[in-house]
Amino acid sequence: MKTFIRSISRGLPRGSDVGVSKGASTLWSRAGSIARPRSPFNLESLRTAALMTGTALVAALFMAEAAHADGKRFGPYPDVYTQECASCHVAYPPELMTKKGWATITSTLDKHFGTDASVDAKTRAALDGFLASRAATRERNAPSEPSARLTRTAWFASEHGSTPPAKTSFANCAACHTQAEKNDYSERGIKVPTK
Ligand code: HEC
Ligand code: HEC
Repeated sequence: MKTFIRSISRGLPRGSDVGVSKGASTLWSRAGSIARPRSPFNLESLRTAALMTGTALVAALFMAEAAHADGKRFGPYPDVYTQECASCHVAYPPELMTKKGWATITSTLDKHFGTDASVDAKTRAALDGFLASRAATRERNAPSEPSARLTRTAWFASEHGSTPPAKTSFANCAACHTQAEKNDYSERGIKVPTK
């Protein structure tokens, strides 16, 4: 609540919704910056209204915001996950891939995308237990190729298209999700690099 009010008075990014088309070809050309005045409502006027009508409206906005954020903020994660799986890249949200996909990842850690990310048996059991407990169950989050890249799941492609913008790798979530290190993938933190 406090944070939200503070961010209102700081002036939120004007288009709180990214609103980019899911059609792959137009996705990146239209997703230039955070400030996209394409929101269905104008936050400046909402702010004025909130100041005038007071807490009731602010509370309603907060609830809308909480609902909006649902499913785009992840974590916190147990130490074993952040220690073993967040040193080379962000801690990928376990919720975004199925248990089968994660099992493929943890069973091939000695040959992990050209690097050795192996862990001892006890650590692996802890990772497997954690990943399985949070894993997606929907088919669209299932791996689509042998290395089980979550960026190749049907879900990922439907959100991001199939080709990243030039010089960007989809695996580098933080290139666009500026709050990815805080496990926050909500729209307001997205800034797609333009070159
Ligand atoms: C030694 C560094 C290192 C560690 C430790 C590491 N990774 Fe990775 N991981 C990589 C690299 C490098 C890639 C490939 C990135 C790319 O394609 O740009 C990768 C890719 C991945 C991908 C596929 C991303 C995609 O493109 O969809 C997953 C999933 C993944 N790692 C999970 C894990 C998990 C789970 C752990 C912990 C058990 C872990 N990683 C630990 C280096 C590491
Ligand atoms: C090249 C920029 C870029 C990269 C890299 C990227 N994303 Fe995204 N992501 C976006 C954009 C833009 C959206 C908003 C798409 C929309 O709403 O139409 C998005 C949306 C999302 C969403 C929210 C989907 C929803 O519920 O609306 C999640 C979660 C997400 N990305 C996770 C990831 C993860 C995890 C990675 C790394 C493995 C990643 N993204 C890499 C640009 C990127």
